[in-house]
Amino acid sequence: MVIKYAIIGAGAIGSALGRQFTRAGIDVAVAASRGPAGLTSLRESLGPHIIPTEVRDALTAEVVALAVPFESVRGLVEQVPDWNRRIIVDATNAIDYRDFSPADLGGRESSDVIAEWAKNARVVKAFGSTWAKVLARDPDTGEGGRRVTFISGNDPTANAEVASLATQFGFEPIDLGRNDAGGRLQSFGGPLTGHSFISQPIAGDSPPEMDLVERGGPTAIS
Ligand SMILES: NC(=O)c1ccc[n+]([C@@H]2O[C@H](COP(=O)([O-])OP(=O)(O)OC[C@H]3O[C@@H](n4cnc5c(N)ncnc54)[C@H](OP(=O)(O)O)[C@@H]3O)[C@@H](O)[C@H]2O)c1
Repeated sequence: MVIKYAIIGAGAIGSALGRQFTRAGIDVAVAASRGPAGLTSLRESLGPHIIPTEVRDALTAEVVALAVPFESVRGLVEQVPDWNRRIIVDATNAIDYRDFSPADLGGRESSDVIAEWAKNARVVKAFGSTWAKVLARDPDTGEGGRRVTFISGNDPTANAEVASLATQFGFEPIDLGRNDAGGRLQSFGGPLTGHSFISQPIAGDSPPEMDLVERGGPTAIS
């Protein structure tokens, strides 16, 4: 059976992502160390779009989201001899827990390190730049705005695919480009991490008229 989407990890971030799949009505295979039997309560709380799965099967999905501690990543992705350009969505943060600082990876971005381990995968960093409870919320603020999610990665087509998924969830995706360039901004400890950014729609018929679209019509600026 071909699995389109999988999440590995069913803790704070994995559950938050699972909630977004559920909200969007998209099936997602979910796997964790505890095995499928341990994930029935997650399915009960989030609904039937959550499909408890073995890790080895989740690793075969077209798009595999990693929501595990960074320390677990290598052992997972190296189980696949060749990813054949399938997408890994990296929601992990590489953290030195002694002082909660960015782990020393010799100047490399953590998603690029994952790409070295995951042969022939296209690694896109997404959904890891804010807190799990914020990620879990409806990205539609109810006031015309949408929560922003940042995307970065070295393959623009893969970035666009993940951005499309984020749009289906209701986020406003912003592609920061390569991991070792704009992507650094959303890496753990970067200036874009740990916030909730809301994007409001802008409309107008010409540049001088461009302004925020606000509920109830435009607000006059005096
Ligand atoms: N929490 C946040 O607010 C937050 C925000 C941004 C980014 N992140 C990043 O997201 C990642 C996950 O964080 P979290 O807070 O969700 O952690 P968590 O609540 O501790 O959950 C970790 C999950 O990973 C699973 N897991 C660990 N090793 C595994 C392996 N080898 N194979 C399969 N499953 C494995 C665990 O399985 P079991 O449940 O069976 O033990 C658990 O479901 C981390 O890299 C973290 O830095 C977290």
